[in-house]
Amino acid sequence: MSSHVMPERRDLQFTLPTERISDWNNGNVQLSQFMNTLSLFFPEGERMFIDAVRNCRDQVSDPELKKAMTAFIGQEAMHGREHEEYNEALFNAVPSTRAMERGVGKLLGVIKKRAPVPLRLSATIALEHFTAIMADGLLKEQRLLEGADPQFAAIWNWHALEETEHKAVAFDVWDQVMGRGPAAYALRAGGMIFATVVFWSLVFPFFLKVLYDEGKLLDKGWGYFFRCTLGEYGYLRKLVLPWAEYFRPNFHPWDQDNSAYLAQIPELAARYTAPAAQKAAA
Ligand SMILES: [Fe+2]
Ligand SMILES: [Fe+2]
Repeated sequence: MSSHVMPERRDLQFTLPTERISDWNNGNVQLSQFMNTLSLFFPEGERMFIDAVRNCRDQVSDPELKKAMTAFIGQEAMHGREHEEYNEALFNAVPSTRAMERGVGKLLGVIKKRAPVPLRLSATIALEHFTAIMADGLLKEQRLLEGADPQFAAIWNWHALEETEHKAVAFDVWDQVMGRGPAAYALRAGGMIFATVVFWSLVFPFFLKVLYDEGKLLDKGWGYFFRCTLGEYGYLRKLVLPWAEYFRPNFHPWDQDNSAYLAQIPELAARYTAPAAQKAAA
């Protein structure tokens, strides 16, 4: 295994104040609903990642990587569980979001049914790179969570930390299964283009529809949203270069070593470990 970080499955649980779903981030509807829109993609997306990695289990012999794959699957399953609850709060506030999540599930279902395993793995490592750079952006620019409700901030930080911790697992599986030849490179790069186009062409219309359906499309707060995403804090703007890094033929997710953030995990885990998991550990 070329990674130096071994992920660990943790059973963390958050008690989100669901009545704050629309404005939990600094009272700003646009930023809150933008992040909520991203959350709509997680449970179904994570199920696809789990499947793609699990499908390759027999092709991986490295015991360390096998162990990392098990932890990866465990982490994504926990993320899915917590974001399902998160999304339930969004469904209650904006009922049309349920159909959006279902649409994501249908699309991924078609990919699962029709696309061969290498293509699904290629889409998985592309989206894992996306989640890794989005996680890094959030951990680096904590002003994005300034004034956020603490439980919502905690779930986002936890997810970002674990996405960082396991960011190379699917990629290492890819390396073992597909190797580093020109065909593997073409499929990996093509997978990223495909994943980028599909992902963002769904995120933005969904985001605007959420605001529209809630009757908040023209609400105040766009200035702060643009400061966070494109202006001073520049969350989306700053994704472009790390995204492009992926196209280097010898790219590896740990080329950018941001493992220092992982030191934040024990404190978060101590605070949010699920009661049942605490009992089992005692
Ligand atoms: Fe995840
Ligand atoms: Fe992930």
